[in-house]
Amino acid sequence: MKRIQLGMVGGGQGSFIGGVHRIASRIDGLFDVAAGVFSSDSGRNKASGAEIGVEPDRVYENVEAMLAAESLRSDAIEAVVIATPNHLHFSAAKACLEAGLHVICDKPVTSSLADSIELKQIVETSGRLFVLTHNYTGYPMVRQMRDMILAGEIGDLRVLHAEYVQDWLTEPMETRGAKGAEWRTDPARSGAGGSIGDIGTHAYNLAAFVTGAYPKELLADLSSFVAGRTLDDNASVLLRYESGAKGMLWASQVAVGNENHFTLRVYGSKGGLEWEQEDPNRLWFTRYGQPKQLLTRGGAGGTSGNSSSIRIPAGHPEGFLEAFANVYRAAAQAMTGSSDVGDGGVPSVLYPTIADGVRGLEFIEACVRSSEGGNDWVAL
Ligand SMILES: NC(=O)c1ccc[n+]([C@@H]2O[C@H](COP(=O)([O-])OP(=O)(O)OC[C@H]3O[C@@H](n4cnc5c(N)ncnc54)[C@H](O)[C@@H]3O)[C@@H](O)[C@H]2O)c1
Repeated sequence: MKRIQLGMVGGGQGSFIGGVHRIASRIDGLFDVAAGVFSSDSGRNKASGAEIGVEPDRVYENVEAMLAAESLRSDAIEAVVIATPNHLHFSAAKACLEAGLHVICDKPVTSSLADSIELKQIVETSGRLFVLTHNYTGYPMVRQMRDMILAGEIGDLRVLHAEYVQDWLTEPMETRGAKGAEWRTDPARSGAGGSIGDIGTHAYNLAAFVTGAYPKELLADLSSFVAGRTLDDNASVLLRYESGAKGMLWASQVAVGNENHFTLRVYGSKGGLEWEQEDPNRLWFTRYGQPKQLLTRGGAGGTSGNSSSIRIPAGHPEGFLEAFANVYRAAAQAMTGSSDVGDGGVPSVLYPTIADGVRGLEFIEACVRSSEGGNDWVAL
């Protein structure tokens, strides 16, 4: 298959997730990063492009310049990856979609719900693909969890517990030159949510991905424990589902001792499933009254979501990069002809879409409203 030519916005030297996107896009040899606007700093932009082997004349000063110059090339980029701080996603995505390019964008999709809704309309009008990198959906054992829940293996959903906690904002890192902390704690660049937007949306998305259900209402209690910080650094959220199921979601960036502790536990009338991101190749399954079973990536009893999402045999660990690459693999398949499975209701199995992005912003803004309103229940 001809490699899909990618442009990048963001992901310059010293950034976090841009490099992950590049690795994930290349694992299966499906994409080339051919052009980009890697930084708003001209020197760092050029140095970033040179470091990853992009031709100097394809390192552009801004998105508009990239789109104009690339449109004249026979080997022009076909899709763009957006890995900038949140407030820049909307304008870059809009421009790229309107120029006829597919977009792969990091989360949260925009910095406001209104922008996400407008972007959804732009995606629909454009006819292009929009892939949102809620990359945790790419783990084989998460996909097995989804397959088992949707097949009724745990019975009717009763209780869901999603926990995504870190500790890197325990102290005011935003005042100590940490760029990733600066924009994440600034409402103008991050949006209305702090930890709830940065990592809470991953937990919210994954809960919907594995259960096939979104809650009907929520109650949130957001806190900023670090003095001077405007946005939340800790969030406790209760969820109520139409079916009567109940959920709890905890997002925190001040939970000392936690690096990237993301767990999902789901319990039904017949059984339970438990998964931890820091031990991603394993999934615990219990049928009520039976001994616990340890299910493994590529192992016996694997569902199709598990076995179709691996690259090397059971017992050879895969992790964050491979799960991220599963989203890229599905994106490449869709860009080269497979159908786009996003339906705007239940999250799609292959890759998260703009519909998931809108749900994420709806969640963030509902949490803020609930918390500011004195912990009211808020409808979704
Ligand atoms: N999916 C995930 O697991 C995951 C993990 C981390 C971050 N993210 C998301 O990815 C995005 C980036 O996060 P990060 O941690 O890499 O941030 P970062 O601060 O480490 O990097 C941001 C990059 O954007 C560049 N940039 C800023 N303004 C720009 C502009 N005008 N034009 C071009 N480039 C510009 C910066 O130079 C930098 O290279 C955010 O939306 C974040 O929420 C997702």
